[in-house]
Amino acid sequence: MCGIIGYIGNRQASPILLDGLRRLEYRGYDSAGMALQNGKDLQVLRRAGRIDNLALLVAEKKPQSHAGISHTRWATHGAPTDENAHPHRDQSGKLALVHNGVIENYQTLRDALKLDGHLFTSETDTEVLAHLVGKYYDESSDADPVQRLISAVQSALVRVKGTYGIAVIHTEAPEVMVGARLGSPLVVGLGEGEHFLASDVSAIVAHTKDVIYLNDYDVVTITKSGFDVKHLEGGIAKVLVSRVDFTEEDAEMGDFPHFMLKEIYEQPQSIQNALRGRLSRDEATAVLGGLQMSPQELRGIDRIILAGCGTAYHAAMVGEYLIETLARVPTEVEIASEFRYRNVPTDKNTLQFVVSQSGETIDTLAALREAKRKGIKVLGIVNNVASTIARETDGGIYIHAGPEIGVAATKSFTSQVAVMTLLSLLLGRIRNMSSTDGLELIEEMEAIPDKITAILKQADHIKEIANKYAHVEGMLFMGRQMNYPVAMEGALKMKEISYIYASGHPSAELKHGVIALVKPELPSVFIAPHDAVFEKNISNIEEVKARKGPVIAVATEGHPGIEKVADDVIYIPRCPSVLSPLLTVIPLQLLSYYVAVARGCDVDKPRNLAKSVTVE
Ligand code: F6R
Repeated sequence: MCGIIGYIGNRQASPILLDGLRRLEYRGYDSAGMALQNGKDLQVLRRAGRIDNLALLVAEKKPQSHAGISHTRWATHGAPTDENAHPHRDQSGKLALVHNGVIENYQTLRDALKLDGHLFTSETDTEVLAHLVGKYYDESSDADPVQRLISAVQSALVRVKGTYGIAVIHTEAPEVMVGARLGSPLVVGLGEGEHFLASDVSAIVAHTKDVIYLNDYDVVTITKSGFDVKHLEGGIAKVLVSRVDFTEEDAEMGDFPHFMLKEIYEQPQSIQNALRGRLSRDEATAVLGGLQMSPQELRGIDRIILAGCGTAYHAAMVGEYLIETLARVPTEVEIASEFRYRNVPTDKNTLQFVVSQSGETIDTLAALREAKRKGIKVLGIVNNVASTIARETDGGIYIHAGPEIGVAATKSFTSQVAVMTLLSLLLGRIRNMSSTDGLELIEEMEAIPDKITAILKQADHIKEIANKYAHVEGMLFMGRQMNYPVAMEGALKMKEISYIYASGHPSAELKHGVIALVKPELPSVFIAPHDAVFEKNISNIEEVKARKGPVIAVATEGHPGIEKVADDVIYIPRCPSVLSPLLTVIPLQLLSYYVAVARGCDVDKPRNLAKSVTVE
């Protein structure tokens, strides 16, 4: 949520900052801005709206500068206006600051600063932080402006309650840029004669692959030629240089019109990446070294809790069915934001997993910290290897899906489910699953990528269905067992990118209330693969048809009959029912994508949303 990029070096800063902001735009897109050192004062350029608006201003002003900070915003405090856009200046106008996160005590700080004569021009918490740093800078008697700036940042941040990733510049210390983080990611990019600060490596991967992921309470100073990391309250900080494992192209759209479509089509590959090296045919099991738990320890687990938000929560719901079906371990799923405020009973044999694509979702992070506080062992199912959640868990399973840029999660869902299938296989094999069943599951899992490819070939058919229903006022999604979470995921996809109201339900719940909504203008999507509840799903479809509700069905090929009751059918290849969510979700992703396109929606940047939700 929100994106930061800062540059200091020998090149012109503004094109680098603009390019970085475009790569970060999925993090927030309601306003953008940059502040540039120009030798005497700061040039601050800000615009409400998309990065293109800022780009026009930059083209008009032609700033000349080799150092600057920039930001793309997802509004928390104050409407998306030019005035509320970052960077914000201090009282003197010589300091500029960009900020991701939320300053919870900003009102108290603002009132105190006002009493000191500070005047504010925006409604943001960030401007308060800029003034606070500026106040400490102005009050300092240190003759060295660089030291003054670093100490001012430290003094201000110890007074702050909340979360931040910041970058700060000052006209009196033009050779440095100061950054700091607490709960909001910040990374240092190391170049030849140039350095970067960014909230996300995708902003800087075109320039360098050598990075330092800062830890909470780190304060970093970068210059053209070097960097220095200190702890917020003084003392040395631990520094580890990492190599980014994806390329600039991985985070680009290529020939696809949208990131979402590209990521839907990447799923045969991303699932292969999730499975690679983790299936042992000899032992008929999964090999998950990242769990860092012996078979004895895993056998001692008598309860599993899975926590996540949004799509990750839906994947966790599938995980609950998988673990209980294949491994017979009692499992519960928790919405991460609820878990942290509940007092869920646990004991020493409880194992918790937090599921998160970004690894930065604040609610999921808070659930992780709450569980650890209670002494529970917490493992991660995470995509972003350098993320806070990845670093704070006691181990886990990376999903290796590659960068997911589309705001609507797609490939991360299937990779999370694939990884939870591996986990269930491993847990099952050390309990009561036979090697024959284990091997059969392995073979079926290996066949999934090709089956997804076969579904993707039906994109034109799905597009036709999407066009037919694109202008409805709402949609219901129905599924049973493992496909109930898929129904919820299908509804979430439809809502977030097409703005059609949609809800997901267990099919049998229809007659307990939802059926009151059924009418010709409200289609129902039934996920009805050929499984133990297929006939029940057919009965539910009949109930909808009897009330003149249109029905789109996702069904298994080779089982004729459903086309007699449903108006439109999308077929998936046969697979064991435990693996069906990996296939049934694909038509729903495509359906929501094509409905959104038909409605003229901005698929990759849906209104009011942003990727990676780092505020509560
Ligand atoms: C939906 C979506 C969100 C995320 C949720 C959790 O398409 O993208 O619901 O799934 O914000 O995000 P992560 O997985 O990054 O924790």
